Amino acid sequence: MAIFNLNVNGKKVTVDVDADTPLLWVLRDELNLMGTKFGCGIASCGSCTVHLNGMAMRSCVTPVSSAESVEITTIEGLGEEKLHPVQEAWKELDVPQCGYCQAGQIMTATSFLKQNPNPSTEEIRNAMNGNLCRCASYNRIEKAVALAAKKMS
Ligand code: FES
Ligand code: FES
Repeated sequence: MAIFNLNVNGKKVTVDVDADTPLLWVLRDELNLMGTKFGCGIASCGSCTVHLNGMAMRSCVTPVSSAESVEITTIEGLGEEKLHPVQEAWKELDVPQCGYCQAGQIMTATSFLKQNPNPSTEEIRNAMNGNLCRCASYNRIEKAVALAAKKMS
C-alpha cells in the first residue's frame, strides 16, 4: 500500500492503496463516487470513462499511480453548479434507457466536443464508437452530441 494524492473534481484527496489499483476502484470504493461504472474491466466498453486533464480515459485500466498530478473529473464533477450543455442535451432528448452506460457516454462526448466543437455526423459516430450501450440508445446519443455542439457554439 502507498499514499497517493489526487485531485478529483477540484478537490484534493488522499488514498492509501496499492499502486496498481485501477482508478475506477479508487473512485468507487475509496471516494464513494459511484457515477463511474464498471462494465468490462478491459478497456472495451467505455462505461468507466473519466477525464484526466480533460482527456477521456478508461479508469478501469488506469492505475492510480499514473493519476497523480493530473486533474481527474468524474460525472459528479461535470455539472456541479449547473448542467453541462452535454447533460442538458441528454436530458432534452431523453437519451438514457437503463442508464448504466450513460456517465461514460457523457464523459466521452464532453471530451470529444472540446477537441472538435463542430463535428460531422460521421465524426460523432467515430468518437462515440467505443462506448457500448446494451440498450442500444445510439441514435439518441448521436443526436444529443449534435445538439450539445449546437448549444456550445
Ligand atoms: S469498464 Fe472500463 S472500458 Fe469497460
Ligand atoms: S442505457 Fe442501458 S446500457 Fe446504455
